[in-house]
Amino acid sequence: MKLNKAFAFSLTALAVAWAGTAMAADYPTRAISLVVPFAAGGPTDVVARTLGAEMSKELGQPVVIENRLGAGGTVAANSVASAKPDGYTLFIHHNGMATATALYNNLKYDPLKSFEYIGEVVDVPMTLLGSKAFPPNTLAELIEYAKANGDKINLANAGPGAVSQLCGSLLQQALGVRFTTVPYQGTAPAMAALLGDQVDILCDQTTQTIPHIEADKVKFYGVTTSNRIQKLPDAPTLDEQGLKGFEVKVWHGIYAPAGTPDDVVQKVNAALKAALKSPAFTERMSALGAEIVSEERQSPESLQNWVKSEIDKWTPILKAEGMNVN
Ligand code: MLT
Repeated sequence: MKLNKAFAFSLTALAVAWAGTAMAADYPTRAISLVVPFAAGGPTDVVARTLGAEMSKELGQPVVIENRLGAGGTVAANSVASAKPDGYTLFIHHNGMATATALYNNLKYDPLKSFEYIGEVVDVPMTLLGSKAFPPNTLAELIEYAKANGDKINLANAGPGAVSQLCGSLLQQALGVRFTTVPYQGTAPAMAALLGDQVDILCDQTTQTIPHIEADKVKFYGVTTSNRIQKLPDAPTLDEQGLKGFEVKVWHGIYAPAGTPDDVVQKVNAALKAALKSPAFTERMSALGAEIVSEERQSPESLQNWVKSEIDKWTPILKAEGMNVN
């Protein structure tokens, strides 16, 4: 009897293992969700949709974008962390993957344990913008105006965990002022508010801002990277205009829930690498000021090491500045 039970148990284990292998070998047999933690039409969404279209050609199944909004990207991260680890739920996220642990006390996921890492995608500079109705025309004027008007100035962002919030917080520290922050569920609605003169300033990724800068629909105070960027060679950095050491660069990675089989991770990684080489992706990203990461950074190991190093870098800074939200 005992023997029979043991035999039945090992048969079941064998069947489960076989089903897993067969699943990975066939993967994918249906549409895959790529979860975006911010609003449709915004900078993260633009990267996701362009990438998803190219990855779906490689994977032979549609990659469907799902925008899950809220709490600066942590609602989406939490839902992906608890999704079935079968390769049909993927996640794109930026620096927020590494900053959220310092910002939120009660996160229900662990960025270092709740995900499989697929690889990095693009680096994106940020730009500091004002609405057309906002009086300052240059960064020097903005600095003076901010010191005189402080919290009368409305700063839009996409909530704690968003890079727009990180950039805006670093700006307030650098200027020694407090603005009134107005959070949205992504910088697409924040940009709409800026274009409609409902808010005064916004720090946002070039993947959303370049068309508005080129169409002269916003006031443009500079780029947040330490060097000028190829796409906007005449635009000064904030650092060279006096905000010494000011630097925010956005990086994006692709993740799956922890426990996703390794062969599935490898297949998605191969599709990611192919998509990053495709002319449709490279041309669109370069038109929007984004830089495809080096091949070395496209690996799961590299993304995992990067997230860890970013957590180590930002946690003490954010905690020391009291940026915690709960
Ligand atoms: C952010 O501010 O973190 C993002 O740019 C938000 C977004 O993609 O909408």
